Amino acid sequence: MKSALNLRLLAMALAIAGALSANAADTVPADRPWLDAKLGADQRATLALQAMTQQEKLGWVMGWFGNDFADKKRNPAALPLSAGYIAGVPRLGLPALFETDAGLGVASQAGKTPRERTSLPSGLATAATWDRKLAYSGGAMIGAEARASGFNVMLAGGVNLLREPRNGRNFEYAGEDPLLASTMVAQQIKGIQSNHVIATMKHFAVNDQETGRFILDSRIDDASNRMSDLLAFQLVLERAEPGSVMCAYNRLNGSYACENDYLLNQVLKQDWGFKGYVMSDWGAVHSTVAAANNGLDQQSAWEFDKSRYFGNALEEAVANGHVPQARLDNMVFRILRTMFDKGVVDHPVAEGGAIDFAAHALVSRSDAEDGMVLLKNAGNVLPLKAGAKKIVVIGAHADVGVLAGGGSSLVYPVGGSAVTGIAPTTWPGPVVYHPSSPLKAIQARAPGAKVVYLDGVDAAAAARAAADADVVLVFAQQWIGEALDAMSLALPDNQDALIAAVAKANPKTVVVLETSGPVLMPWLEQSAAVLQAWYAGTSGGEAIARVLFGEVNPSGRLPATYPASASQLPRPVLDGDPKDERTRFAVTYHEGAAVGYKWFDLKGLKPLFPFGHGLSYTQFAYSGLAASQKDGKLQLRFKVTNTGAVKGKDVPQLYVAPQGAKWEAPKRLAGWDKVELAPGESREVSVTVDPRLLATYDSGSKSWRVAKGSYKVLLARSAADAGAASINVALEARTFKP
Ligand code: BGC
Repeated sequence: MKSALNLRLLAMALAIAGALSANAADTVPADRPWLDAKLGADQRATLALQAMTQQEKLGWVMGWFGNDFADKKRNPAALPLSAGYIAGVPRLGLPALFETDAGLGVASQAGKTPRERTSLPSGLATAATWDRKLAYSGGAMIGAEARASGFNVMLAGGVNLLREPRNGRNFEYAGEDPLLASTMVAQQIKGIQSNHVIATMKHFAVNDQETGRFILDSRIDDASNRMSDLLAFQLVLERAEPGSVMCAYNRLNGSYACENDYLLNQVLKQDWGFKGYVMSDWGAVHSTVAAANNGLDQQSAWEFDKSRYFGNALEEAVANGHVPQARLDNMVFRILRTMFDKGVVDHPVAEGGAIDFAAHALVSRSDAEDGMVLLKNAGNVLPLKAGAKKIVVIGAHADVGVLAGGGSSLVYPVGGSAVTGIAPTTWPGPVVYHPSSPLKAIQARAPGAKVVYLDGVDAAAAARAAADADVVLVFAQQWIGEALDAMSLALPDNQDALIAAVAKANPKTVVVLETSGPVLMPWLEQSAAVLQAWYAGTSGGEAIARVLFGEVNPSGRLPATYPASASQLPRPVLDGDPKDERTRFAVTYHEGAAVGYKWFDLKGLKPLFPFGHGLSYTQFAYSGLAASQKDGKLQLRFKVTNTGAVKGKDVPQLYVAPQGAKWEAPKRLAGWDKVELAPGESREVSVTVDPRLLATYDSGSKSWRVAKGSYKVLLARSAADAGAASINVALEARTFKP
């Protein structure tokens, strides 16, 4: 009664206001004041909620899968082969939510006629660009395709830290450093949400390996977590305001992430003030009362869970008082608020929008090009010189396409996969190759040369063909995907032996790696050059050739440490048994916040390639490193100069090392910039350091503390670089939240 009266009063007030402002009265029906775009999201959500029946409220908190699953048929209202659907309330003018995966583009669930869309290169490739603008434009592009395809929720925004180089989903994430990963993912989310499409930061939290993901318990102490995995999420939240957060499959310190009071209520909603809604991962809900009261706002695709926990069971739990009505109202409020805030209500989506695939392929190409990391280039074998008479290209189906990673994030290529039938052909397959042929792109750039392709299955034949070539390009690959970790850091299928044989036959061997993440390189000494090309996406073949031939000067930098052997890792052997999804186990993250290069620094280990490493076809010099402090914030500046002969982009990196204070590791990345310079050109760069990167977290007081003392600032080319320049700065003690 009360709410109906309030609503009437408000409607009257709005009608009067509307009479004063002609536009509002014309477009907003008096009985639906929440449709007035001039009101704030909070007010609109409050009004809409007040108008809803209990059944309508319940409808928002439980979703459906967009495909048949086991014996359950797809809800016909969902878009076919989509990730999910949440019914709207047409009576109130509130649209349904149509969900699609994921971070590389509009994915499809496996089926006869998957959507064919543009794929970005992998998340690690985008992270390797260290270029905020590229991450944004990639996000804006895939968000536009989501909108044109009828989706208003994109399950993109994966920012789990690369603690485990064998993790099968590393290619969906953004590397090992919380600052780099959060910066890049935040930009991507901003780009996606610029289309009035809700993005979903995931998988919250410490879902850092796939083996045993449904049962494992990630163990890590609060302070370490806040300075590593949680910090990455926190920074994304602050910078991009994703509308939604997806809680993960795993448990964290004993409780499942989707019913974890610490994670959802305390950290996310209370400490960080998250205003959006928490959706579960597909099959990550285990209860009704615990999940609802501990912070889950929406059960995704109930078909994946053992029960409709947020269906009738939730209705009953609310009726019986196990879940307060106010809690259900808050769940719905959060969803509605997000829909208003992100423009989902005011800018309805429709299927069948036009997509400019040619333009989008170029967006993907720029991302792929800038993400390629030139790891080694002995004797400047690259860029390839004009005039070669014979070029031999070997392996990885480089004659027809570039590899993609598997699982829910897979974007099916326009025109279909360049190669079919490779196992696994079902989940987490199929194995897909984007039909952008490196071979063709190479041939086009070497008109006078004989360009020969061999599949590399016969290593001896490949070596024979390579022997008299001017240059040999060996493509090596590692297919991996969701629900599947790489059991070894070695390249699969005897590719190490193939590369070794070819490099022995011809020292001018260039290795192009199409891998999810770090791999071992026992042949490194024998090869002349190595280019990390990742999963290169829709325009991958073109992008690779442009870098090899110097049309694009490589400027990617590693977003993860490449270990020299698995024995250097915090867990030399992966925890858990990939064949056993029943026996619970724990992964103890004893390295705490010392993830990646921090662990290597702490233990004095020499990696194969350090975090931040990447070569160029030109050289850069640094000068004038100086520091100042303003409003308690450390500002650093310096000059970078292109001292070489060709145009190029550099990524000067700033690391901070405490001289007295004790951190989890000797130093942390504190900032960087990516600058493009013509030969001889210089640029002043200035970086403001987030104070949390100079502090440690104190769990007792829930605050960050900067210790008074001296801190060394290093201007470096990688985490293992002694520093092209360094200065000491004195910081005062400081405590702050959150
Ligand atoms: C994945 C999520 C994905 C969801 C929907 C799950 O298996 O973990 O990342 O968004 O499926 O496809």
